[in-house]
This record gives sequence, structure tokens and C-alpha cells, in this order.
Amino acid sequence: MKIKSAEFVVSNQSVAKCPNSKLPEYAFIGRSNVGKSSLINMLTGRKSLAKTSGKPGKTQLINHFLINKNWHLVDLPGYGYARVSKTSKKTFQQFITNYFLERKQLVSAFVLVDIRHKPQPIDLEFMSWLGEHQVPFSIIFTKADKLKPNAITNHIEVYESIMLETWETMPNYFVTSSSKHIGKDELLNFIAEVNERV
Ligand code: GTP
Ligand code: MG
Repeated sequence: MKIKSAEFVVSNQSVAKCPNSKLPEYAFIGRSNVGKSSLINMLTGRKSLAKTSGKPGKTQLINHFLINKNWHLVDLPGYGYARVSKTSKKTFQQFITNYFLERKQLVSAFVLVDIRHKPQPIDLEFMSWLGEHQVPFSIIFTKADKLKPNAITNHIEVYESIMLETWETMPNYFVTSSSKHIGKDELLNFIAEVNERV
């Protein structure tokens, strides 16, 4: 799929205020700093469509972007950011939870994990929660530029073996690097295929 247009639509803290449209949408979620916003910029070929930062906790709202006038990309805040207050953590959890439970337009989520790390409990728990609520998702391994090809294969094998302790099959996954433009075509083609089906 070629990206012909990518525009920011709206940011908000409540699923009720998300765009009232029938367009299919895809949400990017994962730990703070894993590279959600960077990946959105890489996919759309727009350097600063989504705001990125070296400091975790940059994205605080549900951000909708309209792509090719026919689907939405959603940039979400990261979870597991320790330095926010308990109250804002709770508010955050609430609106993200509601987003996944109530957003009918969501056709698939992408759970981003840093390819360098072993499976983290917070990610595994979040994926289980998605599974329990029948939210379709794929895993996106990010920052693949930080590892050599052999190490990438090893890390994915470890990830898969741990996933298979609780999942019947390994979820669909992608290997990406926003800085090296790895995985862009695979992801965009996947989205194009799903868009055809919905
Ligand atoms: P929050 O909005 O805080 O939840 O973070 P985020 O997941 O949106 O991460 P963001 O895209 O802001 O990136 C966090 C940091 O990781 C930035 O310093 C990015 O430059 C860096 N980063 C993101 N993707 C990559 C990548 O593919 N490779 C490398 N080497 N660094 C990356
Ligand atoms: Mg972000």
C-alpha cells in the first residue's frame, strides 16, 4: 500500500469523543518509549506526524490519524511508565481500557515490544487481556536495528517459546526498525489486506 495522505484528526481522553466514522482503525500500544509514535511516522513517511521523544511518557492521549482518507491509525500512550502519579495512571488505564472495549471501529491492535528484551510481564498480561476480550492483535518487535540478524532470530525464538506457554499459537508478528525503515511494506500490506476484508 502506498501512503498518499496522512493527516492528524483529533486527540482526546475519551473513547466517546473519538471520530464518529465507519473507517477501519488500527491502534498502536505498548510500553512507554518502545517506539509507537516513531513507527507511525515511519509507516506514513511523515517525520513528525506523531510526536516522539527520548523521554518516556510523551504520548498522553488517544491520537487519530486519517490515512489515504480511508482508514485510521491510532497512537496511544504507553503503559508501564513508572514516573506518573497513581491518579493519572488510573485515569490512563481507564481510558485505554475503554478504548479497547468500546471502539467498534478497531479492527486490529499492534502490541509493540522492544526486540532487545525478554518478554516482560506487563506485555504478556496486556496481550492476555486483549485475548480475553477478543481484541485481535499482532506483535510488533521494534528497534531491530539494535541487534544483529542472528540475535533477532534468537530473541524471537525465546519470545515465541514463552508465548506458547499460554497461547496455542504464536500471534502474528512483525520485525521493524523505524530508524532503518525495516518492516514498513510488510505492515502496510497487512493493513491493506485486512482493510479489504472488513
Ligand atoms: P511514549 O509516547 O512515551 O509512550 O513513547 P513511544 O512508544 O511513542 O516512543 P517514541 O516513538 O517516542 O520513541 C522513543 C525513543 O525510541 C525515541 O528516542 C526514538 O528515537 C527511539 N526509537 C524509536 N524507534 C526506534 C527504532 O526503530 N530504532 C532506534 N534505534 N530507536 C528508536
Ligand atoms: Mg508516543
